[in-house]
Amino acid sequence: MLIKNPEFKISAVSPAQYPDDNLPQIVLVGKSNVGKSSFINTIVNRKKLARTSSEPGKTRQINFYNMDNKFYFVDLPGYGYSKMSKVEQAKVGSFIEQYLNTSKNIALIVFLIDIRHNPSENDRLMYRYIIDSERPCIIITSKADKIAVTKVDSQVRNLQEQLNPLKDLTFIPFSAERRIYTEKAWEEIEKFIKSEE
Ligand code: GTP
Ligand code: MG
Repeated sequence: MLIKNPEFKISAVSPAQYPDDNLPQIVLVGKSNVGKSSFINTIVNRKKLARTSSEPGKTRQINFYNMDNKFYFVDLPGYGYSKMSKVEQAKVGSFIEQYLNTSKNIALIVFLIDIRHNPSENDRLMYRYIIDSERPCIIITSKADKIAVTKVDSQVRNLQEQLNPLKDLTFIPFSAERRIYTEKAWEEIEKFIKSEE
């Protein structure tokens, strides 16, 4: 999908600030530093739409990006950043939970896990939460450029075995660094925008 005019809409810290239109929301979820903000930039072909950082904990609020008035990408803060103070971690955790519990317009959860690592305890908790919420979800295994191309498919299968043994979710690799696998990601995301129309 070609987005002509991706625009930052608002940084929200409470539900009253979420956009009040009914556009579908595609939300990025995952641990801190896994590549959520980079995913948005890569997929819409912009370098600095969503702010990224090599320091975990860059995104602290809930950022909404309007995609040609068709849908929003919602960039959540990451969980599990141990250097953040306990108070700050709790605050970020409650933003995430509050958003997932209260937003009426979540069309799809894009759940990112790092292709190199086995899912963490927090990843498993998030997975369980998403499954229990019965919201649509796809899994993006990020930073695929960090492993050999020949290992990508088998590692994606390995992560699916661990997290989703029933194999009822779609798992796709992604690399913001090399800008590869973006078409496949769009293909999956578009299914959930169209079904809203
Ligand atoms: P928080 O906002 O802290 O939750 O992090 P985030 O999930 O938004 O991660 P972000 O997009 O800021 O990326 C974190 C770091 O990982 C940055 O240094 C990115 O350049 C790097 N990164 C993101 N995606 C990739 C990727 O596909 N490959 C590689 N090699 N690095 C990546
Ligand atoms: Mg971020």
